[in-house]
Amino acid sequence: MEVPLVDLAPQHRPLQAELWQAVQAVAAHQRFVNGPEVELFEQEMSAYLGVAHAVAVSSGTDALLAALMALGVGPGDEVITTAYSFVATAEVIARLGARPVFCDILPDSLFLRPGAVREAFTSNTKVILAVHLFGRLGPVEELAKLAAERGVALVEDCAQALGARAGGRSAGSFGLSGAFSFFPSKNLGAWGDGGMVVTGDGGMAGTLRRLREHGQVERGHYQKLGGNFRLDTLQAAVLRVKLGHLERWLDERLRAAQLYLQMFWEAGLCAGPDETQHPGHRLVMPQLPAGEREHAFNLFVVRAEKRNELAAYLARRGIATAVYYRTPVPLQPCFADLGYGPGDFPVTEEACRQVLALPLFPGISPDQQRAVVAAVAEFYRQAD
Ligand SMILES: Cc1ncc(COP(=O)(O)O)c(C=O)c1O
Repeated sequence: MEVPLVDLAPQHRPLQAELWQAVQAVAAHQRFVNGPEVELFEQEMSAYLGVAHAVAVSSGTDALLAALMALGVGPGDEVITTAYSFVATAEVIARLGARPVFCDILPDSLFLRPGAVREAFTSNTKVILAVHLFGRLGPVEELAKLAAERGVALVEDCAQALGARAGGRSAGSFGLSGAFSFFPSKNLGAWGDGGMVVTGDGGMAGTLRRLREHGQVERGHYQKLGGNFRLDTLQAAVLRVKLGHLERWLDERLRAAQLYLQMFWEAGLCAGPDETQHPGHRLVMPQLPAGEREHAFNLFVVRAEKRNELAAYLARRGIATAVYYRTPVPLQPCFADLGYGPGDFPVTEEACRQVLALPLFPGISPDQQRAVVAAVAEFYRQAD
């Protein structure tokens, strides 16, 4: 059985009529830019997340960029961020002429390690940019407290974590601002690129709205440089339809993750839910925190012995996997001038050697999951 890493068809097939209707409505009114769907989508997202202001933008990368621009990040500033993320997180810092100061992560949640952040502070620190990786809500309160003590802003990169929450609060609502991505494979995916910045701060929201229109204050008057960070009306129309189904899809993601845990445990490949170890287990499963939905499972990422050989074996069996990420961000050639080297981020580097994302998406069938687990079990049997 072939199993793709992500299959969007089970999401879209049952919504076909609704989605086409939304698209046709935009074709009818023809306000392809700044159409009414954009503002409605912002209102609906702000209500969903419980954050006062939501500003729709063109991508997750632009959400991060606009958030940092709104906070005035520029040359001479330092932004503390994680060594373990997609490159966009640190890229936006450098694009603004500021310096990314990279920190290592906690081994279980893969979140910025607060102790490392504390040590990285200097008088130039302006922002802490933390990432809820793979959908797992990190222990963000400690960083929020630290940021408040030091008088700097905390921005949450929630590109992978839409829908994660704890204690009644959503990812993106703990810091001054949160950035989201609507890349098609994200928990809420557009039919193209899209993103959003949320904040409880009305002043920041106003700045963001101006920035996404080239810094326009009133028609034809530009006080500060911005960009074209607008979300297309068509994307907003699609996203509004899909938002109505997000909670169900998040439940499906969680159920599929729980089923993997059960199946891998039954196959003797990982430790049990009560930490009982199968002797010589080969895989470490992502943590399933007890909270309401502390993990939104955008990606189901295990740590695997003989990771590269396993991935190659699964590919031969028609089972798609991916490595997020193979290289710590500070060790990418584009950041070579910052002078980091191997050994600087041991926890991140170990994760980069071990992680493997397995197929998981709303609508994945138990048979598909069984095929994945059976192929993994077969690989380790043959490896002995
Ligand atoms: C952690 C993280 N940050 C930022 C981004 C950038 O989002 P986008 O692809 O929408 O620009 C992504 C997207 O892949 C991401 O995973």
